[in-house]
Amino acid sequence: MTEQKRVILVTGANKGIGFEVVKKFLDQSSSKNNDIILLGSRDIKRGEDAIQRLGSPSNVHLLQLDTSSKESILAATNEIRQKYNGHLDILINNAAIAPKDQSVEATKSAFETNYYGIKILNENLIPLIRKHGRVINVASGVGPLVSYLFSKELQEKYTSPTLTTPELDHIVQEFLSAYGSDNLERIGYSSEIPFPSYTVSKAALIALTRCQARQYCKDKNLFIYSVCPGFCATDLNGNAAGARSAALGADSIMYVINTPTNELENGAFYQDGKQLPYICDDEAKVKGFVEHSKTLFKEKQ
Ligand SMILES: NC(=O)c1ccc[n+]([C@@H]2O[C@H](COP(=O)([O-])OP(=O)(O)OC[C@H]3O[C@@H](n4cnc5c(N)ncnc54)[C@H](OP(=O)(O)O)[C@@H]3O)[C@@H](O)[C@H]2O)c1
Repeated sequence: MTEQKRVILVTGANKGIGFEVVKKFLDQSSSKNNDIILLGSRDIKRGEDAIQRLGSPSNVHLLQLDTSSKESILAATNEIRQKYNGHLDILINNAAIAPKDQSVEATKSAFETNYYGIKILNENLIPLIRKHGRVINVASGVGPLVSYLFSKELQEKYTSPTLTTPELDHIVQEFLSAYGSDNLERIGYSSEIPFPSYTVSKAALIALTRCQARQYCKDKNLFIYSVCPGFCATDLNGNAAGARSAALGADSIMYVINTPTNELENGAFYQDGKQLPYICDDEAKVKGFVEHSKTLFKEKQ
């Protein structure tokens, strides 16, 4: 049955932007019969409730997946092998956390989900992705904003056109070690960087997307992009006042799914259909972001 139908997995889809992405697939007329949608949720009950909120469509199936757990990633990979003939066409790495506290432990947890979870899930699932498949890593515009605050040397490392995934892992590991020993500035991360647990994990994810595009595009005809959904009112930010809707954020993700690949750059970063720089080049915007984040931080304390 999966021969003709696309198999699509959206992680962290029980609420927020991921849930809206599943709705968009259901709304696309071709999806009504032709897609098998796996709604990823780390919690079975929350996943079942989400499917019920969608009206229990027959082509949406729950896939229990905690992206911060290697065991859960392996179990989900096996489930796709067994139930869906080992076929996957589109993988949307949407699940993420944004810890309020910036403790060493919280920062490690953020990287487990926002960076390592996606890297390991991709390593497991990319072999199952059929020709012309796509992987979308949901990143954030905060990545390029905080990359502006990295030292020149660090910026060059993150954006090197020859950077490999093991080299990026090393950069991430150095960040986490320095974070634990209060040595971030010594290795090129400004003390001004707001919410580094989340913001640096997203900068690393944007770099990972380019590394994995280079890594996999030769052997497989695979396309992988990172996307910012824009600032959306969801639980991630306490449903921030004035933010756009999660449905609009989902549109930003759907753009790189529905646009022909010859109109996109493999490995690149997009928002609302526009390619974004890896390092923000607008100093005023970065300063505005840092100031706004200070207010947010005070509110959260
Ligand atoms: N909202 C924004 O303004 C904004 C801006 C830029 C980028 N983004 C990105 O957009 C994506 C979706 O965020 P959102 O705003 O929709 O957040 P959200 O409403 O908090 O939803 C996050 C989803 O991820 C799931 N999740 C968290 N950790 C997980 C794990 N280890 N394994 C599996 N699922 C996990 C959550 O599940 P539970 O319900 O079980 O917690 C939830 O379903 C994230 O990648 C976020 O970084 C959001």
